[in-house]
Amino acid sequence: MTKEEIILANKEFLFPAVFHFYKEPLVIARAKDQYVWDADGNQYLDFLGGIVTVSVGHCNEQVNAKVHQQLDSLQHVSTLFANEPQAALAKKIASITPGGKLTKSFFTNSGTEANETAILTARCYTGSTEIVALRHSYHGRSAMAMGLTGQGSWRIGPPPAGVVHAHNAYCYRCPFGLTYPECDVRCASDVEELIRTTTTGRIAGFIAEPIQGVGGFITPPKEYFQIVEKIIRNYGGIWISDEVQTGWGRTGGKWFGIEQWGVTPDIMTGAKGLANGSPIGLTVARPEVADGLKGVTLSTFGGNPVTATAAKAVIDYIEDQKLLDNCTTTGAYLRARFEELKDKHEIIGDVRGMGLMQAIELVEDRQTKKPATALTAMLIEATRENRLLVGKGGLYGNVIRVTPPMNIGRTDVDHFIEALDKSLVSCTAAAAGSAR
Ligand SMILES: Cc1ncc(COP(=O)(O)O)c(C=O)c1O
Repeated sequence: MTKEEIILANKEFLFPAVFHFYKEPLVIARAKDQYVWDADGNQYLDFLGGIVTVSVGHCNEQVNAKVHQQLDSLQHVSTLFANEPQAALAKKIASITPGGKLTKSFFTNSGTEANETAILTARCYTGSTEIVALRHSYHGRSAMAMGLTGQGSWRIGPPPAGVVHAHNAYCYRCPFGLTYPECDVRCASDVEELIRTTTTGRIAGFIAEPIQGVGGFITPPKEYFQIVEKIIRNYGGIWISDEVQTGWGRTGGKWFGIEQWGVTPDIMTGAKGLANGSPIGLTVARPEVADGLKGVTLSTFGGNPVTATAAKAVIDYIEDQKLLDNCTTTGAYLRARFEELKDKHEIIGDVRGMGLMQAIELVEDRQTKKPATALTAMLIEATRENRLLVGKGGLYGNVIRVTPPMNIGRTDVDHFIEALDKSLVSCTAAAAGSAR
């Protein structure tokens, strides 16, 4: 098919709700390591990583060699049959969870399904149905996952009962109009008020992303989760950490994002980067919590031998190549280069994130913090022109999110910053021109 035929077929045969980045959809033809090529043969530096999914580079040779071998020996069995790749993956995951305490896995096909399973498990285990989630969060696209999500634009249809949303720790735009640390982390203590006023006081659990991904890499201060944890446990709830974006070392130095805050969750969910692009969902729990999910349940593709092989190969690669350390060091370098850009470009109001999960929030005015939504859309187009892939996010669509493969180096960061700087210069000049 030609590029034009692909775009036309997308329009004609896909739900209109399937939207694409950019005014003109970008047709990706192939990819390798940190690069992708479009249908016209143009090369792009991929600093989005398939939305935090290409953990160890596109078409990673070591991962794919194992996948090819598995594909030709056993492709499918379903969770009704035992198979070695699933067993080996579950064993490996159990060995790297916080404190080695989450040792029972349930495999599915996506982050959405992983979160569905987590909520079901929390409800069965506690006997309560009430869940506390966070504003600005994103947890997936099923009815329940959209109900957990704290952004109106990602919720289609009526929200399910039994979910309440607490304020998040969005220090750049504090929901209480306060400033950290004088605020005493009011957003965290407010969770108690929320539980006492909007629930029965007996909750099943709390679900949060350690760093809110789609929300624009909102990163809580160091005390936030520990204060919230005490409250949640006082009211009988268990802790679900949605690690779909923050897992597998991305935040630097630790396997899971929540470990950066010293909280040990009862359940964690994973997907995206776990299998470097093969569809996978993971719900991993403390044994007694997993045992709470009574009855029978199955997943046709859960624990699929090919996907499980890919996931285990990704974890092994991350370990062998010491990518937890690379996320810390290259992430720190990326952060420093972002701070330099902030000094140069007034439009950058905030720089935030951890490890190789960093973002800039764009504002029209640093005093009023008015979101620069239109300019962010222009910037996304400009980055395409400069052969760079980045993500967009935030409730106001004014955050540029960056999550490159975790095995990139400083040179890649330098190329990225150069292209982003060029894009920022051209956009701000064009915006100034049209304002005149
Ligand atoms: C934090 C988080 N949780 C869950 C999901 C849903 O994952 P999936 O798209 O695989 O269903 C996403 C997807 O972006 C996510 O970012």
